[in-house]
Amino acid sequence: MSPTVKAYLIEEAAGAVRARFTSLAPEALDAGDVELRIDYASVNYKDALAATGRGRIIRRFPCVGGIDAVGVVERSGSARFAAGDAVVVHGWGFGVSHHGGYAERARVPAEWVNRVPAGLTPLDAVTLGTAGYTAALAVELMQLNGCRPERGPVLVNGATGGVAGIAIDLLARLGYEVVAATSKADETDYLLQLGARRVIAAAPAPGAAPRPLESAQWAAAVDSLGGEPLAALIPRMHKDAVIASIGNAAGIAFTTTVMPFILRGVRLVGVNSDNDVATREHLWQRLAGDLRPRHLARLRQLVPFDELPAVMDALVAGRHRGRSVVRIGAA
Ligand SMILES: NC(=O)c1ccc[n+]([C@@H]2O[C@H](COP(=O)([O-])OP(=O)(O)OC[C@H]3O[C@@H](n4cnc5c(N)ncnc54)[C@H](OP(=O)(O)O)[C@@H]3O)[C@@H](O)[C@H]2O)c1
Repeated sequence: MSPTVKAYLIEEAAGAVRARFTSLAPEALDAGDVELRIDYASVNYKDALAATGRGRIIRRFPCVGGIDAVGVVERSGSARFAAGDAVVVHGWGFGVSHHGGYAERARVPAEWVNRVPAGLTPLDAVTLGTAGYTAALAVELMQLNGCRPERGPVLVNGATGGVAGIAIDLLARLGYEVVAATSKADETDYLLQLGARRVIAAAPAPGAAPRPLESAQWAAAVDSLGGEPLAALIPRMHKDAVIASIGNAAGIAFTTTVMPFILRGVRLVGVNSDNDVATREHLWQRLAGDLRPRHLARLRQLVPFDELPAVMDALVAGRHRGRSVVRIGAA
């Protein structure tokens, strides 16, 4: 075993954030009751914002980046895990206020860890990672709010993104008519292959505030964008439609009216992936069961650890598609 730990460390100096590869002494790892060897980590939009300093994500400097990872338990102080278990780690402080997945090893609280469920390979589990878990949570919340395939088409915007691509796969598998909205016209075939029934161009930024109600188009929506695209979506929802609000790729602020909520019963449902152990276990089991995605190989690019910065540049520049997985310790 290497005496040091190769890691991608995010630092702040003179108000500027930068990230670099370094070697950490094993004692420099944060404390936690589960210690693991990391095989793969994925690259999420949040990871790219964190490492490039484009978003104020990191809550403790220096911090190894990477909000999710898959690996093998080497030591466990938790009765839930034993040495040799294949596990997926994500959420809470991982890669934000506690050293994260872009390192050969990690120590983490057991609450952030789930066993890779039977039926998924470790590579599948990391391809899902935070994005897949969040997509599954969105689907479950939509179902709990009455969303069913026969109610009509479901819009998934930011469709070439990680969460969105997995959401398309999950929803199509469940029989929903998925309509994918993207800014990338050349990715139509990819989105159809994931299961979208139709692909439409992302709506241009509205010149004026949307009217309180527009003609109803969508029975549900998975919104990765927030901001004005979300404002434009709300008046276009069917009666009793559900919007899963996942992200803010286009912005955090929007202006709307109460009319879609009180006249059409539109439900705007917040999705937050920092969940308790029981919820996490339940959703990982669903991801290996009734939600099991069919197109992870198509969604995934596997890249060497050293190419991580280039993937982050592509993500913040809007040139990225699907899910990038970084090979760290896997053979
Ligand atoms: N709630 C949670 O717990 C949770 C968990 C995971 C992620 N998130 C959030 O969910 C969002 C998506 O995450 P992700 O990892 O899937 O990101 P991603 O892979 O970068 O996907 C975002 C997609 O949004 C579109 N987009 C990017 N920048 C945009 C802009 N300025 N204006 C309009 N569209 C833009 C692009 O799709 P097209 O080019 O196809 O339109 C892009 O592929 C992020 O805001 C992330 O922080 C939240």
